[in-house]
Amino acid sequence: MEIKVTSGHLRNARIKAVVSFMFQEDKAFSEEVAAVDRLLNGNITELKKETKFSGKEGEVLVVPTFGEQKFDYVILVGAGSKRKANLDKARILASNVVKHMKKMNIARFLIDAEALFPIKEPEDKIAQAVVEGVILGNYTFDKYKSNKSQYRIKELQVRVKRKFKAMAEERVEVGRILAEAQNFTRDLVNEPGNVITPVKLAEIAQQLGEEYGFEVKVYDEKEIEKMGMNAYLAVARGSANPPRFIHIIYKPKKPRRKVALIGKGLTFDSGGLNIKPGDYMRWMKSDKAGACAVLGTFKAIGQLKPDVEVHGIIAAAENMPDGKAYRPDDIIIAKNGVSIEIGNTDAEGRLTLADALSYACELKPDAIIDMATLTGACIVALGEYTAGVMGNNQKLINDVLSVSEETGEWMWQLPFNDMLREHIKAPNADVYNIGKTRYGGAITAGLFLEKFVDKKIPWVHIDIAGPAHTTTGWYYHPKGATGFPVRTITTLLKDKLAKER
Ligand code: BES
Ligand code: MN
Ligand code: ZN
Repeated sequence: MEIKVTSGHLRNARIKAVVSFMFQEDKAFSEEVAAVDRLLNGNITELKKETKFSGKEGEVLVVPTFGEQKFDYVILVGAGSKRKANLDKARILASNVVKHMKKMNIARFLIDAEALFPIKEPEDKIAQAVVEGVILGNYTFDKYKSNKSQYRIKELQVRVKRKFKAMAEERVEVGRILAEAQNFTRDLVNEPGNVITPVKLAEIAQQLGEEYGFEVKVYDEKEIEKMGMNAYLAVARGSANPPRFIHIIYKPKKPRRKVALIGKGLTFDSGGLNIKPGDYMRWMKSDKAGACAVLGTFKAIGQLKPDVEVHGIIAAAENMPDGKAYRPDDIIIAKNGVSIEIGNTDAEGRLTLADALSYACELKPDAIIDMATLTGACIVALGEYTAGVMGNNQKLINDVLSVSEETGEWMWQLPFNDMLREHIKAPNADVYNIGKTRYGGAITAGLFLEKFVDKKIPWVHIDIAGPAHTTTGWYYHPKGATGFPVRTITTLLKDKLAKER
């Protein structure tokens, strides 16, 4: 797909279809649309009246030009209320545009981003959001279907006012990189457990390394044992697919900071001996979503090259029941010497993360961010669209939350407290891998992780169990993996952590 920023008059556009927007508060067309309407002898006005188009979100007005213009259609899309409009609304509207283009089989179209400038955000960011919405909204995972979608976008023009053109050009490229990296993550997460095993995930990391010049270290089970990662190894033991510990490194010339990104990489989570009932086991191929988000983030930073050293860490494993599997009541000594009593083999993610966090701390980074499909309890607490954010450093948490507001990747902080810390005390070891009750399960999981983080290192934990995948589709996410939170993490690295603070 070719993406161009243009700034000429709408009426002069040379492309198959021209798409503009109208907010419901607007009584008249924008100057640009009005000019096209005049050239079409008032056809847009007439059709608008006929169809009672009023600018409400979801409304679409398709006006053919009957060969009178260099484009075949003017399409007016309802943008809803100006008061509710934000950057994410631009993404949502743009993704809806793509769905229409697909239906009409239009491969070349222009989106009049200027029509969205009533959104109270910088114009170049609106142009970026439009591109993100187009690329994210056009995603399909049909590689295993005989009947694949033939639709491809060949050319996208994003129209802005002339004075914003240069800025928008830069931003549009950022948007393209972010959305394509997110789609890369979606592709990986959507692959089933029989295709993406820990070994395969390591190969994918190595391919990324070759493509963008990252150093990639991969450790097998013998080396994992030598490094003392017994908690991680316990989880991996029940699977015929051996584990792989993946460490991928992006090192710019003059890094301002060193950051470790950890992703939960369970290529499949059956629950282990505490096996999940059938319905709950569905979608557990997505239990690698955190790991795949880390890899997607690396794909983006390989192109955006922020001034921050980034270490990606993935303890990849599969959680299966077996004669060799770890069992409830087992006591395991983690890499950092903390003893863990197993209450439930289905609380496996925190065990793999425990050793990954200890490993990350040894790198002495300035910040650690882990992302994990860690608890069903987080979905109960916040609903399936919002990730839970926890950690030991309010400044870093605030940075994550503030970036997530721009990216539209919803996040909400969950509070740690000393009472819940009591709940993970174990009968016969330092810590239990489950809480005393079901209550606060997302937080007790976060508090478990805290035991493996050096108190001096700012750390944030993002529980993405809800938003990592969707069974219904929502906004610009089709059914399946969402690629959450690649845009937030990449933007955080680029716009916050790579900058002076
Ligand atoms: N991978 C699951 C969490 C999960 C659940 C992710 C639903 C996405 C959707 C995790 O390993 C798990 O099984 N957690 C248990 C913890 C419990 C045994 C303390 C859970 O949430 O039920
Ligand atoms: Mn589990
Ligand atoms: Zn899991």
